[in-house]
Amino acid sequence: MLERLHELEREGLRDLAQATDEEGLQTWKVKYLGRSAELGRILDGLRTVSKEERPALGKRANEVKRAFEAALEDRQQRQASARLTQALQTERIDMTLPGRRLACGRLHPATQTLRQIVAIWAEMGFQVYRSRDVETEAYNFELLNIPAHHPARDMWDTFYTTTPGVVLRTHTSPGQIHVMRARAPEPIRVVLPGMCYRYEQVSARSEIQFNQVEGLAVGRNITFGDLKGTLTAFARRMFGQQVQTRFRASHFPFTEPSAEMDVECFVCSGTGCPVCKMTGWLEILGSGMVHPTVLANGGYDPEEFSGFAFGMGPERITMLRHRIEDIRSFWANDLRFLEQF
Ligand code: PHE
Repeated sequence: MLERLHELEREGLRDLAQATDEEGLQTWKVKYLGRSAELGRILDGLRTVSKEERPALGKRANEVKRAFEAALEDRQQRQASARLTQALQTERIDMTLPGRRLACGRLHPATQTLRQIVAIWAEMGFQVYRSRDVETEAYNFELLNIPAHHPARDMWDTFYTTTPGVVLRTHTSPGQIHVMRARAPEPIRVVLPGMCYRYEQVSARSEIQFNQVEGLAVGRNITFGDLKGTLTAFARRMFGQQVQTRFRASHFPFTEPSAEMDVECFVCSGTGCPVCKMTGWLEILGSGMVHPTVLANGGYDPEEFSGFAFGMGPERITMLRHRIEDIRSFWANDLRFLEQF
């Protein structure tokens, strides 16, 4: 019997060396370690063996069993690591390929200009004051000294809502009244950026929505000289220290006197080109000294207080700077346009 165990061990180990795959190992396991394997039968049969023979035989049978188990385990591990090595070679990933670029968003060109404008005013001590897009006619017109049925209303073609007296703001100027009423009688230096809406025929030159940046300074002894000096300082920061500016008399119901500011055309440096329509100048903003009626509506005594206000359009400034010819490009959501900025 001992002899047979030796043989069995040799046979088993030899057989195992031939098993080259998972399936072979499985078959081997059934044959040599399975329930009806020869080794199993020998172990079961130990009961019938004589007492003298039993210990040596049992010891040997168990040794063979452990040898089989250890050898099987070793083979299984070798096969697993061989499979891994092979997989690593055949399924190799080429990591030298450049990755796909993630599409990265950026600020809308109008927003870029708007933020630049706001940043310049912030440096000069002007806070940002946010005001609503939906207004009452009172704030959009009456309190700004534009009575109902007054022809001046024609300057602002208006979106009326289905609620009587409620409109989409046609300019950021109603914010002047809001901030004055919130701050009176404290001095004010604010800019009011935001979207405005006009019921207009959409064309290359006019859109039904656009941004404005309104400015307002209220205090004691504020003069037209302050208006000119402050707006000129802004223009230099925005368009370069060398830029020439000029003020032209104008009219707005809520300012008196009123002026429009032009800057020297930065496309042709003032010599005349299609962008400035051969004038050498570009109109940049409307401005003026806050009308006494508007100051009073805001809660400031016009005898004691004065102030200046201005309003400019970031889209218009962006168009001039980049020679964008069609204002509709701003809201057309065409990436070919937007990705240029
Ligand atoms: N609200 C005016 C407009 O929309 C611009 C403006 C603002 C003019 C403040 C003077 C003072 O045209």
